[in-house]
Amino acid sequence: MNTEAVQVDERAGINLKPSSRQSEPYSIQAPVESGKTVGDITVPDPIFSCRNVDVYYGEKHAIKKVGIDIAKNQVLAMIGPSGCGKSTFLRCLNRMNDTIPSARVEGSIMLDGKDIHDKKQDVVQLRARVGMVFQKPNPFPKSIYENVAYGPRIHGLAGDRVELDEIVHGSLQRAGLWEEVKDRLDHPGTSLSGGQQQRLCIARTIAVNPEVILMDEPCSALDPIATARIEDLMEELRQSYAIAIVTHSMQQAARVSQRTAYFHLGDLIEVGETDRIFTNPRHKLTEDYITGRFG
Ligand SMILES: Nc1ncnc2c1ncn2[C@@H]1O[C@H](COP(=O)(O)OP(=O)(O)O)[C@@H](O)[C@H]1O
Ligand SMILES: [Mg+2]
Repeated sequence: MNTEAVQVDERAGINLKPSSRQSEPYSIQAPVESGKTVGDITVPDPIFSCRNVDVYYGEKHAIKKVGIDIAKNQVLAMIGPSGCGKSTFLRCLNRMNDTIPSARVEGSIMLDGKDIHDKKQDVVQLRARVGMVFQKPNPFPKSIYENVAYGPRIHGLAGDRVELDEIVHGSLQRAGLWEEVKDRLDHPGTSLSGGQQQRLCIARTIAVNPEVILMDEPCSALDPIATARIEDLMEELRQSYAIAIVTHSMQQAARVSQRTAYFHLGDLIEVGETDRIFTNPRHKLTEDYITGRFG
């Protein structure tokens, strides 16, 4: 995708109906009953199946009775105003909330039919199966090669150096970075541009054969060209993985995802096919958000 295409796309927007913007305070809206998501939360043969997921940070009830399936070979976009619980929900999926002392997660989260909170579940293994890419690219302070080789090494995925080289090469290729770095694999990962660093982080994630890739606003620190490259990459990667992305850009959600989930103040308000959500939202809160009245 070239920049021009991105600009045209941004301008065309997706049913943003600016004329319907109003400035009345949002608090006059009726509260939402928890756990009453509009739209079909299920998919056939899901990789993830989440039901009644509540997360508390101490006393704060951050997400309420969230239920949703995540499909294989699809991109699920999670959208909603800042603070509505998108990152909190994403972090449930590979138990990253375990690292936050005040966080308490309740409910059922099944990965390929198995409870990720089962006592027998190895969390390191889980995070290899469910990889995560963050908002700010965070390569290790190591070489480009070592950034990608690290995971396969600790998980014992390569028998020898030749196999490790193959994994590193293949992962960088699939992340669309190989041509740019093949002659400087020994350079620090941090010497790359922001967009390259994010693709390096994606290569690092896919090097351990994940089943799901979680992305939390992966493009918000990137320029439009680097963003377009990551978006194109997501379309390729979903052929092999399930992807769940949090994005604050509705244009991005519309471009990259097949299914969209709209969160509001800790509630999962509506889930549906992306085209349907953006053209014919069923819940008023979803409509207000995508038409720019709130957010
Ligand atoms: N580590 C934390 N400790 C306490 N509260 C948190 C923490 N992380 C998030 N929250 C709160 O939980 C709610 C949801 O936050 P978050 O999941 O980050 O929302 P989003 O990603 O949609 O912006 C917010 O009210 C936020 O302040
Ligand atoms: Mg967030």
